[in-house]
Amino acid sequence: MKNDYPHIFSPLTVKNMTIKNRIVMMPMGTNYGEQNGEMSFLHINYYEQRAKGGTGLIIVENASIDSPQGSNGTTQLRIDHDNYLPRLFKFCENIHRYGTKIAIQINHAGASAVSSRINMQPVSASDVPSKEGGEIPRPLSKDEILHIVKKYGEAAKRAQTAGFDAVEIHAGHSYLISQFLSPITNKRTDEFGGSVENRTRFCRMVIDEVRKQVGPFFPIMLRLSADELMEGGNTLEDTLEYLDYLQEEVDIFDVSCGLNGSIQYQIDANYLPDGWRSYMAKAVREKFNKPCISMGNARDPKVAERILADGDADLIGMGRGLIADPAWVNKVATGHECDLRKCISCNVGCAGNRPIRCTVNPSVLEGDVYKKKHVNKNCNVVVIGGGTAKEHRKTSASSIRISS
Ligand SMILES: Cc1cc2nc3c(=O)[nH]c(=O)nc-3n(C[C@H](O)[C@H](O)[C@H](O)COP(=O)(O)O)c2cc1C
Repeated sequence: MKNDYPHIFSPLTVKNMTIKNRIVMMPMGTNYGEQNGEMSFLHINYYEQRAKGGTGLIIVENASIDSPQGSNGTTQLRIDHDNYLPRLFKFCENIHRYGTKIAIQINHAGASAVSSRINMQPVSASDVPSKEGGEIPRPLSKDEILHIVKKYGEAAKRAQTAGFDAVEIHAGHSYLISQFLSPITNKRTDEFGGSVENRTRFCRMVIDEVRKQVGPFFPIMLRLSADELMEGGNTLEDTLEYLDYLQEEVDIFDVSCGLNGSIQYQIDANYLPDGWRSYMAKAVREKFNKPCISMGNARDPKVAERILADGDADLIGMGRGLIADPAWVNKVATGHECDLRKCISCNVGCAGNRPIRCTVNPSVLEGDVYKKKHVNKNCNVVVIGGGTAKEHRKTSASSIRISS
């Protein structure tokens, strides 16, 4: 079948990973984890739906490399102990059945951790909160920094052992590495603060340790806030400069943006057009000539195709779009674009401290299972209000009447 999206549906090989198409599910904390940080069967179900739906690469939500100190979220995944391996292994086995590649994002929350959850004062580069009115963190000592670097390496090795195809280091979004990179939160006067080289030192040590643990052929991805979009923060030009110190061992740049104080750009507000931030990935790609992911309200396949065709990015990241429609890729691949259930960027069900829900997808975990349910006798259904109800179609019960 001829497809209108040749760039979306072309494979990409990075080191020993071949991704079957260019659509990447972005890491998104789900709060589906077990109380002890283990991956749950809800997780497996949820990600499996997105793999079954044709997604090329899934980046599993941020997993803590050092709990409790480095953890965030209510039931965040952990990857800081071998106890977590069996469930992660089971997960990888399940996802690979669909030909989807999988990475996992490894992270230390730094000052974005909350003391009431971790039972200690959060840590950071300096004593600067990660958001206005946030808790004052304790600056890390050099020995502690070295300890955390080792923990990143161990976590990456664990990911490789579990069967992941790649690992993503989270260096953006106001978490620990980003707190070292950003002049807003790094006020240190030792070798980890001040100059660009010094601010990148911690991240570089993390990347080097991860590479040492996973070997030369395993892809390392680096997630960035390429423009922090905050007064006094790193601009895109600053990022292009500091990446000179970081790029060598990075195989894919995941070009995000924004900090806690500019969250409307990081988890794109609904007024921002599809793919609005692809110029950031373009700049990184042009300078370093390495594969880049661009994301941000990417819901329209035409826009995704254009970004790829123009060479602005190599991969299109989709976060909420795949919560809303796990079968986005398969629908586009088979010419069923008109059936896409597009995210409306409302952040009502997904962004928060509760398990993910979605205002346009009542079945985030089970996929299309609901279609098998039939009403036994004819009935009248009244949908009060318009919005998404307008797109409802007649399904199993032919006599259902929709009035809005
Ligand atoms: C519920 C939710 C959780 C998120 N969790 C993470 C995370 O764990 N790590 C991360 O790097 N970004 C996280 N993000 C940001 C997404 O990865 C993504 O970059 C952002 O949502 C923009 O893409 P989208 O418009 O396609 O959703 C999260 C976003 C949402 C909505």
